[in-house]
Amino acid sequence: MKQSQRVTLGGKLSAVLVAAGSSVGLGNIWRFPYVAGDNGGGAFLAIYMLCVLILGLPLMIAEFSVGRATHRNAVGAYRTLDRKWSFLGYNGVLAAFLILGFYFVVSGWTAEYMVHSVTGELTRYTTAVEYTAMFDRFIRNPWRPILYTSLFIAATHFVIAMGVQKGIERSAKVLMPMLFIILIALAIHSLLMPGGTEGLKFFLQPDFSKVTAATVLTALGQAFFSLSLGIGTMVTYASYFKAETDLRHTAFHVTILDTTVAVLAGIVIFPAVFSVGIEPSSGPSLVFITLPGIFNSMPLSMVWSSIFFLLLVVAALTSTISLHEVITVYLHEEWHMSRRGAAWTTTGGTMALAALASLSLGLFDSWRICGLNLFDSLDYLTANILLPAGGFFTSIFVGWRMERKALQAQITNDGKLPFRIERLFRFLLRYVCPAILLLVFLDNMGIF
Ligand code: TRP
Repeated sequence: MKQSQRVTLGGKLSAVLVAAGSSVGLGNIWRFPYVAGDNGGGAFLAIYMLCVLILGLPLMIAEFSVGRATHRNAVGAYRTLDRKWSFLGYNGVLAAFLILGFYFVVSGWTAEYMVHSVTGELTRYTTAVEYTAMFDRFIRNPWRPILYTSLFIAATHFVIAMGVQKGIERSAKVLMPMLFIILIALAIHSLLMPGGTEGLKFFLQPDFSKVTAATVLTALGQAFFSLSLGIGTMVTYASYFKAETDLRHTAFHVTILDTTVAVLAGIVIFPAVFSVGIEPSSGPSLVFITLPGIFNSMPLSMVWSSIFFLLLVVAALTSTISLHEVITVYLHEEWHMSRRGAAWTTTGGTMALAALASLSLGLFDSWRICGLNLFDSLDYLTANILLPAGGFFTSIFVGWRMERKALQAQITNDGKLPFRIERLFRFLLRYVCPAILLLVFLDNMGIF
């Protein structure tokens, strides 16, 4: 496909907003708190922040550069730069498909919780035990979660079918700022709940005695997951950026926004977890059993929970769109399908996988892959293996293989912008990122 045929995104803000739309999602509000709770709280937060800064930020600039240098889908982008490296693009397309398999399911849950908020059902219960039972009943139901997941997939398909500019750009512009404001209000409320400070302490006070190699790998995987890195989402989005877009600033702003939302989510969840008496290591159900408790203790609880779950649905939607787009534009450009056909193929494939993942929590609970059900295996395989592997090879590719001039041209917009930390950037990409990723990986496999 010729470059001139490709759409580009509008003004300066748009690049930040669509990339932040992809980054900020269930990864921040659903996954981050439970993974942090599972891995000791404060120490995890500290390691997570380091991963974002040392690995996440340079890798995001790297992915942006690859995308805008080539104006292609993830596979096409790496292939254009070096034929041998197209596997990196395939790793991305595969990971996007597998992530959507469980991400759509959780998105469906948020949609169902939104509906329950509006109908008032969510505020009917009072204790943590009741909320836990309600959540378990719900996800084990064979058809209701699938129904909501399908509705959610249909919404994603609709936006993708409308195209990049109208669909993706517009939805990100309004809803992102709203999500921010409501999270701040919830954080304040949560801190004021009785026993709230204990939760805040758990979240902010590091206890490094519990840290293992697995903790570090999990923090790494979570950082990549949250920032949408390692699988070519940012390559794909940057292929739509304008020549004037400042990649350094865009990456910086997206990283700050994404991390702030994750930390805010932690400040909302942990004080409430301790106040209501829920185990911080409750796993994927954590947010779904904690939040209703928070809302219940607020005046106008129905209004708050309806708005919150609506925004969560939207945050999830802007992320599923970015994952869907990776596969759709790959099929469109590499397989020469029409954009419509490519979108339908992606929708159909992910629908089937998501339905199986949803059923794996109830009806097919006995199907296990290395001891995990399908839902958990998809999560583990992508966040702990495919994303870090993608990050490893991306840093090697951009650090060692991509032409230095081409990289500089992207980051400085052909010499118009300064790039004072170029040496640090190259050092991180060439040595630090691959070394850390490799060590953590090997350590996890018990090599040391
Ligand atoms: N980052 C999103 C979230 O936090 C999810 C997501 C979108 C993603 N694109 C991705 C995760 C690419 C990994 C890779 O919810």
